[in-house]
Amino acid sequence: MSDPNPPMFNVQIDGVWHQFPKGTRVIEACEQVGVFVPRYCYHKKLSSPGNCRMCLIEMGFPRLGPDRKPELGADGIPIINWMPRPQICCAQDVADGMAVRTDSPLVKDCRHGVMEFLLINHPLDCPICDQAGECLLQEFSVDYGNSQSRFLENKVKKPKNVQLGPRVTLDDERCILCSRCIRFCQEIAHDDVLGFVDRGSHTVLTAHPGRSLENNYSLNTVDICPVGALTSTDFRFKMRVWFLKETKSICTSCATGCNTVIGTREDVIYRQTPRENDRVNSCWMCDYGRLNYKYLEAEDRLLEPQIRSEGRLVPADWPTAVGQAALQVKQFAASEIAIVASGRMTNEELWLTTQLVNSLGVKWIDIVPRRGDGDDILLSRDRNPNTNGARLILGSSSEPGAKLMAIADAVRSGGIKALVILKENAMHLGLSVEELARLPTLIVMNNLPNAATEKASVVLPACGFAEKRGSMVNGTGRLQRLNRATRPPGNARDDWEILRDLVQAIGGGDSLHSIEDVFRRISETVPKFAGLSLSKIGDLGVHILHMEELPPTLPGDEEAIQQAVAIQARRRAVRPQLHQARPHLGASSIEPKAAPRR
Ligand code: SF4
Ligand code: SF4
Ligand code: FES
Repeated sequence: MSDPNPPMFNVQIDGVWHQFPKGTRVIEACEQVGVFVPRYCYHKKLSSPGNCRMCLIEMGFPRLGPDRKPELGADGIPIINWMPRPQICCAQDVADGMAVRTDSPLVKDCRHGVMEFLLINHPLDCPICDQAGECLLQEFSVDYGNSQSRFLENKVKKPKNVQLGPRVTLDDERCILCSRCIRFCQEIAHDDVLGFVDRGSHTVLTAHPGRSLENNYSLNTVDICPVGALTSTDFRFKMRVWFLKETKSICTSCATGCNTVIGTREDVIYRQTPRENDRVNSCWMCDYGRLNYKYLEAEDRLLEPQIRSEGRLVPADWPTAVGQAALQVKQFAASEIAIVASGRMTNEELWLTTQLVNSLGVKWIDIVPRRGDGDDILLSRDRNPNTNGARLILGSSSEPGAKLMAIADAVRSGGIKALVILKENAMHLGLSVEELARLPTLIVMNNLPNAATEKASVVLPACGFAEKRGSMVNGTGRLQRLNRATRPPGNARDDWEILRDLVQAIGGGDSLHSIEDVFRRISETVPKFAGLSLSKIGDLGVHILHMEELPPTLPGDEEAIQQAVAIQARRRAVRPQLHQARPHLGASSIEPKAAPRR
């Protein structure tokens, strides 16, 4: 447990004194005051093995006089005793009176030297490397690389295009052996699957025998690989990264709501990557959520509003389709209408759904629960991203899904004559296609067709999560925003606009011109949203709800790092035994193949 009020230490960075709390890494302290120290192996969410040496700096401490007090120079400032050799700053915490130099001639020399070593065997194929544009080796080469190589020998050839797992491809010759990917698998994904084998220049990264990198977090290794060694099989060679438009949003594949960046070009999504938010997902996201966007480009996306005419669905314009939908539901009594909404809808859409409910006087309203296997890392068992938003806005006292069976029974018995299905598949209610076909009115708003859509009397094509703006409340009660990364295809419309028009066509609601207007109405009517606006939510969200039972969240980084330190300690304990077994071998001859599995 970290001290909530740690003592502050005075630290001199490049001649300027600053104060940092005890326990701050030197590399982080430098960054906090705007001094960036280049690094490859260091990642702030992982343990620090200190193996790349790119972060070498000069370090010193005040010279102490006979009275054990710092000696002061003529300018009244403590005289620093500089250590004779450079030190790495990624594995060292600040100490009181410490001084560091990050831009001295010695430090620059060290960086040039490290770069030269790293590039000895690294292929010079940046133009065809998928990491180009976001490669640390490229970036630091500009500052510390040499324009010419002194290396005349042949480069070591290493395996190329190795499938480390179903989603990750390895080009071993580009690996700079930083071990970030190995540590991520051990410390965060809890799947000790990667390791180094062979020695010296021939060391390669590989999966342990009989294993493959297939855990649900495997693509995070691609994010943190500082070079182009690990690439996403899904994304590689599809698009140069500098062409991508980046939109900050959230994943909507489960209740965790991991913060993301959606990379798009010309309305096509090329990738999703995690965005750092220590209150939600740290720096990570799961592969399931990351790749769950392909359906937005499905060939059978609903593109046009449709109405049933002479027994078949025919395209219509929006005013006609919305007018028809309103006309059809209005002919029934409130007790004969049911609305099935979705925990995938945004708060704004759910609030407009309540307006629909109020305009029609409907009593039958529920959302479809969606459950799957969770884990103790990020993935929640609740696969609806906005169950909490639905609870707050629909104001239901019962659990999501509690009324669905009764709704289905009422449809079967003929008690319900008009069913409005919003962003869900009516088949999930347990109704057969025949039973749906018997309904006089079935209004469907969705992105993709399904068996129920075929039987609809009106089809309203809507947007996917990356095509709209809005807000959701995640499983821990954090209100977050999703943003529009691409335009919807065809004539599909923003869900909130469809619902607003439907409410107005039915005869309720007042003018709402923008999604900000809708959010403002939520903040006026739902107490937990009081005082908020879409812009006040910010990129990292705000906590609005304290849940009694929280869904699985990320274990504390401290805990993960302690686990890693324990693994390394166990490894060190194994090494002396190996020495005894092979006394003729020096310490450097022990290959890491013998690492114990966790
Ligand atoms: S593959 Fe990338 S992350 Fe893994 S050790 Fe090599 S350079 Fe580091
Ligand atoms: S854990 Fe949930 S929210 Fe996060 S990326 Fe995976 S599916 Fe998406
Ligand atoms: S970043 Fe410090 S040794 Fe690699």
